[in-house]
Amino acid sequence: MALFLFVLTGPNSGDSIKHPSGRGAAVNRRGHIVTQNTTDRDAGQQIAGIDWPDDVSAISESSARDLLAQLAALLQQANVDYHAADAPKLTDADYDRVKRLNAAIETAFPDLKRQDSPSELVGAPAAEGFGKVKHAVRMLSLSNAFDDADVQDFDESIRKFLGFSGDQPLSYTAEPKIDGLSLSLRYVDGVLTQAATRGDGETGENVTANARVIADIPQVLQDVTGVIEVRGEVYMSHADFAALNTRQSETGGKTFSNPRNAAAGSLRQLDASITRERPLKFFAYAWGELTAQLAETQYGAIARLAELGFATNPLTQVCAGPADLLAHYRQIEAQRATLGYDIDGVVYKVDDLALQRRLGFRSTTPRWAIAHKFPAELAWTWLKGIDIQVGRTGALSPVARLDPVTVGGVVVSNATLHNEDYIAGTGGDGEMIRGGRDLRVGDWVQVYRAGDVIPKIKDVDLSKRPETARPFVFPVTCPECGSAAIREEGDAVRRCTGGLICPAQAVEKLKHFVGRAAFDIEGLGAKQVEAFYHDEMLPVKQPADIFTLRARDAKAIAKLKNRDGWGETSARNLFDAIDEKRVIPLNRVIFSLGIRHIGETGAAILARHYGSWKQLAAAMDQAKVGSGAAWDDLIGIDGVGAVLAASLITTMQQPAERASIDALIAQLDVQDVTAPDTSGSPVAGKTVVFTGSLEKMTRAEAKARAESLGAKVSGSVSAKTDLLVAGPGAGSKAKKAADLGIEMLDEDGWLALIGDA
Ligand code: IVH
Repeated sequence: MALFLFVLTGPNSGDSIKHPSGRGAAVNRRGHIVTQNTTDRDAGQQIAGIDWPDDVSAISESSARDLLAQLAALLQQANVDYHAADAPKLTDADYDRVKRLNAAIETAFPDLKRQDSPSELVGAPAAEGFGKVKHAVRMLSLSNAFDDADVQDFDESIRKFLGFSGDQPLSYTAEPKIDGLSLSLRYVDGVLTQAATRGDGETGENVTANARVIADIPQVLQDVTGVIEVRGEVYMSHADFAALNTRQSETGGKTFSNPRNAAAGSLRQLDASITRERPLKFFAYAWGELTAQLAETQYGAIARLAELGFATNPLTQVCAGPADLLAHYRQIEAQRATLGYDIDGVVYKVDDLALQRRLGFRSTTPRWAIAHKFPAELAWTWLKGIDIQVGRTGALSPVARLDPVTVGGVVVSNATLHNEDYIAGTGGDGEMIRGGRDLRVGDWVQVYRAGDVIPKIKDVDLSKRPETARPFVFPVTCPECGSAAIREEGDAVRRCTGGLICPAQAVEKLKHFVGRAAFDIEGLGAKQVEAFYHDEMLPVKQPADIFTLRARDAKAIAKLKNRDGWGETSARNLFDAIDEKRVIPLNRVIFSLGIRHIGETGAAILARHYGSWKQLAAAMDQAKVGSGAAWDDLIGIDGVGAVLAASLITTMQQPAERASIDALIAQLDVQDVTAPDTSGSPVAGKTVVFTGSLEKMTRAEAKARAESLGAKVSGSVSAKTDLLVAGPGAGSKAKKAADLGIEMLDEDGWLALIGDA
């Protein structure tokens, strides 16, 4: 019987029953008060295989530790049996007794309380939202392939990176991409200790209590020591989704628009007793921190996870190359409608885990995997209007207002129209789109969604165009501030020239600033920041104003806590959440500024290069667009082009922008970039340039390896270069390095230096 599987019978387990006299004692040997909950049974009796002590304070520490382990396993399994599998094996009374015994031991031995203590389990809603969990290994997303050619490119780029010829064998796994939400499960010595959502990839939400009531998630792994983090997707089947929605509408509860939202809403319940009633499932497909490798191959690792008791997807298969991958993709696509759960593509992964390690990661995605998405879903509807939104960089973006229509299970009422050329029927490279047909208010249009992206318009049916429909006239002034909106040479986008005086730009900048990848302040989302922007008592007009809110509120007569919708606690929580983000990594600060052309990746690259805000700002003070040492240094950074560089310099040197940025920085404690743990690395912190041809690895691999050892890799030689690695055919860079007296190595010398020889 399952319950007995988890009962430990070590040499100490007998110690616990040797005190027949103490039942009901008022004070124990340590002077603790012993309540009647120490024993509900006579000594020597068992519940579910637990040897029952009569006085918990009299048992030895090692017995207490053993008992706590037994009780944790027993109660975890009982929860699953009761809540998820709906097949209780303990009576309610025994369940309560076991729980009380656990609590009594924890009271007597507070230091032995386990990380996965059952007293923290289910039913007790966390007071304020979920706790945060920093992932030991980041949870990444996947880059996408949309057609066969993208899959060929994926294979080619991997071969190129690894230096594999076209006929060298290179196999992949292919498996369905489950449309749910990812979850990371941490097991310590085989016991589930923590479950966390992906969050921003670095920090997720602690949903441990909820994961404990999902039947597919093993609470205990047999014969496993050390840490094992299993990752996979929580999802809801079509049948369970339909039944849940029926139940919800019958009871007047919230219904969900698709199984993914239902799964997310069910997992992210503060009260785990609600999660327990929602039929969630889980497929394991990846891992995070591991004390021991699972296998040599991806396929082997998945098989090992299945062995450990996880559900793994039966459509996972090893494929010999792109042709095989595409064949398996079509097979899965053909089965899609009958699987009984939503999938939105097929994920391909390099099978050999040693090759996966060599390939490594880009800033947010692995090089060794890709998601081949299914074609977008389509629907026809009426285009009711076209609105113009002004973005944080002043871009005037047309938005289609649609008669609401369901596209792939989601109700769509807006779609992006990109820019004025797009409305007129011209694409980004001047090519015709929709056969050159323009879009007019009143048109019958075809809408599509691909994955999570914003809906778009694919086509227009001219036979349904009303006679009154007129070509759309794109505004030449900003609808928000009235400033001229101009299109610069080569820019498809028309932009408001109002800068900081344009309220729309200011609000959008603030929304970007508080976004998830930027400051991500709890309780201060897009809605709140917009409200503060318009607030007369406590206005927030620029990011720095967020950090003076507490001080301004303290001096104000009309306090935030006295306003409608606010209270003492919520106001204090907001100020605390803001203060918490004063200490912030450099890359987030750079990204948060919302500078055109600087996304998350660009911000991370800049942060890594400059290391501190002080150095970045100093470099920008000296830089000139197009020439000079600071400019050369900036565009010498791999991944930084002239467009990004010019945008950064111009913004940092524009007086009003700079004043706003400096005011913000004055409020913060910006953390310097901490290099990866490269203790012992001979090249940590050094600037390395590769030139000439390399024979044992590709340039991309050499660069990735150097960076993983904490080196900065630059494309050009300058006085800052510490080391030049020159292969055969090295030319002007080698000469310049020699002139500057920079240390030079050949490829073998480099490999010997970093210990890869
Ligand atoms: S592998 C490091 N495999 O897709 C790579 N992801 O778009 C880890 N997903 O965040 C992901 N099914 O939530 C992987 N079979 C599968 C998947 C899968 C669904 C999700 C996952 C991930 C997202 C990326």
